Amino acid sequence: MTTLAIIGGTGLTQLNDLVIIKRERLDTPYGAPSADFITGELNGKSVIFLARHGNPHTIAPHNINYRANIWGLKQLGVTRIVAVAAVGGITEQMKPAHIAIPDQLIDYSYGRKHTFFDDVNYPVTHIDFSYPYNPKLRTLLITAAANANITIVATGTYGCTQGPRLETPAEIKRMAQDGCDLVGMTAMPEASLAKELGIEYAAISVVANWAAGTTAEEITMADIEHNLHSGMANTAELLKAFIAL
Ligand code: HPA
Repeated sequence: MTTLAIIGGTGLTQLNDLVIIKRERLDTPYGAPSADFITGELNGKSVIFLARHGNPHTIAPHNINYRANIWGLKQLGVTRIVAVAAVGGITEQMKPAHIAIPDQLIDYSYGRKHTFFDDVNYPVTHIDFSYPYNPKLRTLLITAAANANITIVATGTYGCTQGPRLETPAEIKRMAQDGCDLVGMTAMPEASLAKELGIEYAAISVVANWAAGTTAEEITMADIEHNLHSGMANTAELLKAFIAL
């Protein structure tokens, strides 16, 4: 039996078509999660939804209690997470308002509480992270996109920065040289914490803007909001097609 959770990011603080059954505020050994866990039904299938930045959207990426969020989902029996997040597009194919299903990850964040395996109750544990995004779950998302006729980019390397500021053009240039296609602020440590607890994890990255320096223009919040609006509409359709599989 799989139990699905959707973590919503910027532009997806709530799932509009979710029929809400229950809201739960959980306490965890790591402190408070970002928001209530919402159990509901999306197209007749059971889903647990969590707003990563809180509802309303007030928790900055570096202040998110990733451990409490993932621990809470595990307590609720979640076996599979689809994480939705806004990103900047670095490489050519990652156009604003488009969706990507990343397959690799580079972590540039710092100072975040990033592991469950650092207290005396756990022996030293090194998880394998060859596949930061679950291949089986990624394939399902890619199939769902094809079924729903939604154009996606089916791979990509996500670079996770600390934020909350956006990057300098020089930082983006370095990330491009490192092989990053996308830049965001929240995939880590979310992805590795899920892996530590044995939860399947994959992401829908919604491109909100061209990353800094990849075009001559500065990045405006108005452009980001505009692109996210259409990207998130497609994301909602993609989630419904995924749930129908
Ligand atoms: N950089 C980092 N995170 C982001 C961006 C960006 O340009 N756009 C949306 N999330």
